[in-house]
Formats: sequence, structure tokens, C-alpha cells
Amino acid sequence: MFSFLAKKKPSTALINAQPITVQPKETLLQAALREGINFPHSCRVGGCATCKCKLVSGKVRELTEAGYVLSDDELDQGYILACQSVPQSDVRIEVDLAAQQARRQVGGRVVGQDRLTHDIVRLRIQLDEALAYKAGQFAELSLDSLSGVARSYSFANPVQPDSQVSFFVRRVPGGVFSSWVHEQNLIGQTVRVDGPLGDFWLRPADTPLLLIAGGSGLAPILALLKDGVAQQCARSTTLLFGAREERDLYALDEIQDIARQWAGRFRFIPVLSAAEADATWRGERGLVVDHIEPVIEAGSQAYLCGPPPMIDSAVSVLRQLGVSGDQIFADRFTTLHDGVAAAA
Ligand SMILES: Cc1cc2nc3c(=O)[nH]c(=O)nc-3n(C[C@H](O)[C@H](O)[C@H](O)COP(=O)(O)OP(=O)(O)OC[C@H]3O[C@@H](n4cnc5c(N)ncnc54)[C@H](O)[C@@H]3O)c2cc1C
Ligand code: FES
Repeated sequence: MFSFLAKKKPSTALINAQPITVQPKETLLQAALREGINFPHSCRVGGCATCKCKLVSGKVRELTEAGYVLSDDELDQGYILACQSVPQSDVRIEVDLAAQQARRQVGGRVVGQDRLTHDIVRLRIQLDEALAYKAGQFAELSLDSLSGVARSYSFANPVQPDSQVSFFVRRVPGGVFSSWVHEQNLIGQTVRVDGPLGDFWLRPADTPLLLIAGGSGLAPILALLKDGVAQQCARSTTLLFGAREERDLYALDEIQDIARQWAGRFRFIPVLSAAEADATWRGERGLVVDHIEPVIEAGSQAYLCGPPPMIDSAVSVLRQLGVSGDQIFADRFTTLHDGVAAAA
């Protein structure tokens, strides 16, 4: 009787081998951080997937729809978002804590703010000290002139000897951080770069490479490719770059340099989805995902980066073409609102 009034009890979470107590209503991430575990995280609202971990046993209640930032394969394998999961029983969790060990916050100064297209700006930042990261990873960026706001951006270059880093920031209508970057003169302003984060980097193999970028999703793909040139990567490579109109294409000189220096075969295929007005456009038209089938080489490994709907369709096409989930790597450029909207 009155059992519904019984107070919920704390549960135990085994994080890798370490037991921690989780209070009722507490998320796994909150509990892990409170107990001093250096658990990977960034946005804390279900928008970036930095806190993804594997639920090996037990039950959790999810605060938002994790399917928006995790792939079908990851969901099938039992991956969850620690920041959005409240245990409903004792649970066992596996998470890669090693990745978090390299994470640090480094100060810097904006030394370049270049307009690449009508809605993409490249921020160049001189760091006060070196920051190690893998080409393809991202960092949480905050500007001293915009206090209390931090957003995720992918490094657009591999590590440079002079400790300069670059980010491509696409203007999101109504977006706080990206509007600030597009509207204010930031040269000389102080910045904090917190990272590296994420598990998007080139896996060693000899198989052909298919890279698909949309919009500012070209940033980590360029970083991967420049690193590939430095490592003399000879894998047969195809880069599909999806944009709306010709004015949305950028970094073409950099791509040309990469193509010239690539040790193996290199194809670059820009695809415009709204090229009706570009009567002079001689290249491919339509949705970038519709161009996967004609160009993909047998046994390809795929790297995708850009807006979530493009990634979801590309993953589905790749799976239909027989590419296994463990050969597809993707970075979804979700916004904080995506995570919140998925919960609504
Ligand atoms: C791993 C990762 C890497 C990324 N890398 C890049 C990158 O290299 N380049 C890049 O350009 N972007 C990148 N992003 C996206 C980036 O982190 C930001 O989300 C993006 O720039 C928008 O930030 P913002 O502050 O301008 O917009 P926000 O202020 O966060 O708003 C986002 C959108 O939500 C809307 N919104 C906000 N609140 C509400 C509300 N309450 N109701 C309705 N609508 C609302 C806004 O109008 C806007 O359209 C990445 C994201 C992730 C997760
Ligand atoms: S920290 Fe959990 S999704 Fe961003």
C-alpha cells in the first residue's frame, strides 16, 4: 500500500570498471562528473554526441531522442547519450575515457576573419600554446566578447607548427554564436579553444576513400585530406562536395592543391542542388547523395560531414550499396536547438 509514494533509491552505475552512485533524476553524465570521472561531454543537451557511451546492461530513461545524433548502427549496438540518460536500474556503461585525457582549454587571439562565401567565415586563431588533436576532430569555441556561449566547430586544418588553428563558421539564421562571428569585427579578440573532441578521423586502411561534405562540413574533410597529403596517403579518393549554388562553393584552390599533391588517384566532384540560376554551371547537379552510386569504388570507406539530413540520407544510400556500418564515419553538425527540438 502507498508504494507509489515510496521514494526512488539511488542506483549504481559501473563506468568501465568504476562504480558510482547515481541519484534519482540525475543523468549519467551529471553523476559521473560529480564523482570526479573525466567523462567526455560538450553541449550537455543532447546535441553533439560527445558523451555517447555503450549501455551494456540495465535500463535508462532518455530525456531526448538520441536517434537524432546517433546513427542507426550505434543505436542497434546499444549506444546512448550520457547527458540524456537517467538510470532506471543499476547499469553498466562502457566509454572511451582515453580520448578525454588529451582535452584542454587553450587561450588564443583571432588573427583572421575571412569571408569564404556569403554565409561562411573562416576564423583563424593564434593559440597561446600548442594543442594536439587529430585531423577531423572538433573543439568547443568561446569568445571573451560573447560570454557564456560556447559552440562546437571542427578544425579546418591539421595541427600547424605555428599553433594556428582555423574554423569555418556558417551563419545559422537566428543563431547567437554564428551571427556574432559574421557581424562583429573579432580581429585581436581573445578566444578559448577547448578540445580536442570527437572521434572523426581517418582510420588507417588501404581501401578507397569516399568523402562527402556539405556546407561548412568541408572543414574537417579538408583537415583529413591535408593530413593525408602530409602522410603521403595513396588511397584512391573521391571527394563529393554538396552545395546549393556556385556561390556556395569555396576552398577550391586548396582542394586543387590537395588533388595535385595526393599520392594516389584523386577525384573532386562538386554537386549543386539549386543550380537553376547558374546557366553556366557545367558540373553535376542535384542532391549530393544521388551521386554516390555512380562514383563509389568497391570496398570504400566513407567519411561524411555536414547537416544531419544530408548525413542520414548518405548513410542510407551507402548501406543500400553494401557499405557496412563500421566503414562509415560521420560528424553531424547539429545545433543546440536540434537536440531540444528532438525532445519536443
Ligand atoms: C560536432 C559538431 C561540430 C560542428 N562543427 C561545425 C563547423 O565546423 N562549422 C559550423 O558552421 N558549424 C558546426 N557545428 C554547429 C555549431 O556548433 C553551432 O551549432 C552552429 O554554428 C549554430 O550556433 P549558433 O550559436 O549560431 O546558433 P544557436 O543560437 O545555437 O541557435 C541554433 C538554431 O536554433 C534556433 N533556436 C535557438 N533556440 C531556439 C528556440 N528556443 N526555439 C526555436 N529555435 C531556436 C536558432 O534560431 C538557430 O536557427 C558543429 C556542431 C557539432 C555538434
Ligand atoms: S554532451 Fe551529451 S550530446 Fe552533447
